[in-house]
Amino acid sequence: MAEQGGTIPLIAARGITRRFGAFTALERVDFAVRPGEIHALLGENGAGKSTLMNLLSGLLRPSEGEILLNGDPVRFRSPADAERQGIGMVHQHFLLVPPLSVSENLLLGTAPGMGGLLSYPIRRVLDEARSLADRLGWRIPWNAPVGSLPVGTQQRIEILKALRGVTRVLIFDEPTAVLTPTETPELFDTLRRLAGEGRGIVFISHKLDEVLALSETITVLRRGRVVARTRAAETDARSLAEAMVGPDREASSLIQDGAVSASRAGQATVPAGGAALFVENLAVAGQARPLLNGLSFAVSPGEIFGIAGVDGNGQGELADCLAGLIRPSSGTLRIGNDQPAASPGAFRRAGVAVIPADRQTRGLALPLSLTENLALGVYDSPVYRRGPLLLWPALRRRTEDLIRQYDIRATGAGALARSLSGGNQQKVVIARALAENPRVVVAVNPTRGLDVGAIAYVHAALRGAQASGAAIVLISTELEEVLSLATHRVAVLYEGAFSGIVSPDSPRDEIGLLMGGKTREVPGAAAR
Ligand SMILES: Nc1ncnc2c1ncn2[C@@H]1O[C@H](COP(=O)(O)OP(=O)(O)OP(=O)(O)O)[C@@H](O)[C@H]1O
Ligand SMILES: [Mg+2]
Repeated sequence: MAEQGGTIPLIAARGITRRFGAFTALERVDFAVRPGEIHALLGENGAGKSTLMNLLSGLLRPSEGEILLNGDPVRFRSPADAERQGIGMVHQHFLLVPPLSVSENLLLGTAPGMGGLLSYPIRRVLDEARSLADRLGWRIPWNAPVGSLPVGTQQRIEILKALRGVTRVLIFDEPTAVLTPTETPELFDTLRRLAGEGRGIVFISHKLDEVLALSETITVLRRGRVVARTRAAETDARSLAEAMVGPDREASSLIQDGAVSASRAGQATVPAGGAALFVENLAVAGQARPLLNGLSFAVSPGEIFGIAGVDGNGQGELADCLAGLIRPSSGTLRIGNDQPAASPGAFRRAGVAVIPADRQTRGLALPLSLTENLALGVYDSPVYRRGPLLLWPALRRRTEDLIRQYDIRATGAGALARSLSGGNQQKVVIARALAENPRVVVAVNPTRGLDVGAIAYVHAALRGAQASGAAIVLISTELEEVLSLATHRVAVLYEGAFSGIVSPDSPRDEIGLLMGGKTREVPGAAAR
């Protein structure tokens, strides 16, 4: 391996090709991480980023080429094997076990080479995790079930888990996709500190500004090949976006306002027919305090109603109520004039389509094909069914149309949802939600993990649904996204209640205060 700056890379890929059946996901890729370096990996959804990192962390094996550890060829037999040799990865989709406590998750899969549970006392694993958390200033509820914690905390647990033992290289696959604006700078401080201790860091993100701010080196993948490698100081967002999408596509149209298109959807005209979604005094009880309390709002056809807020303030519960997944403890919820029973089927039949926050557990059936996944929303429609029989050819044709329309990168309608890249899985979820002209769309963090082009596409798709009369509830922790898409009102959710409902043109610092719980009296802002 050619040496750069006189240091041998901690880990390197040399001439790596990886095929899945007939499909080549990576082709002759070179990549290296040096001590103290933060190396960003960029590329569109499906470019091969996660695949490359899965190879470096022992989850996958290359079809051709080799991996070098400190300059010597190595073959990782498993992620535990890679972890033993100092390579840790924080995955795009967390690998935590939700019902187990934080401590139990940290002990899970403790690699034998780290001493095994016998020679490497449980106490020591936990003590080290605790002292690391202290060093980073993290307050972790060690005995709480992981599934009950906000994603930002879950990610910290993933980081602590990846840092067990003697990690030299730490790979982060889209770590900021699940973080709030306040959590991201904290993560960056952590990454800088870890690099400062001589570790090598790989950082995957679709947010070009983040990549430029944080990393030293940037590698860009396009359709499985390295198309650019540069120092962050010598490039800018436009050049990077161009490298990502290639010369045949217009990159400049994709990078307005930090990957979020700034144009506002048209002002809603409230038709005489009244609200498509009507919520009054909605409450969901919790153990210590209510999870939702006294929420009232109405959304008209053609309106995008934005709901901002830091994750963990009731977004999940609100989305679950609006999807019919949980029954509110009190309050009224109407879709048009219907009051559907609290079941997802009843809500779907009333015209509610949901883009859930967690595509892997809620959005998709990973072992099933795209046709089967996309059929989930329409299997009771007469167009796709005769009596008990599903009309598979029609469902397949519909899938092929949606694949084209939503630019889903997959080998075909029969591809398993599991085999798609993270961003392409999200496109499937969105295609299914919007395909059947829903009356109400509940979108929760709809662009999490998408590349710049795909974000622009999803925003256009939501605006398209709005223009054709859907009432859209956009719940997102991306403040810029909420502000740019909301037609005229943004509510801020704090500890289960609205701390304010403001115009999307309001000053950011004012919205920031509401996000922190400073309430603001909004005359007549409730159901209107
Ligand atoms: N197990 C698999 N079987 C078949 N194809 C796969 C498999 N894993 C990945 N692929 C394909 O390889 C390509 C690269 O996927 P990968 O997950 O590496 O993309 P990515 O760059 O991480 O994208 P994203 O930004 O969306 O996460 C995709 O087209 C994907 O469908
Ligand atoms: Mg990925």
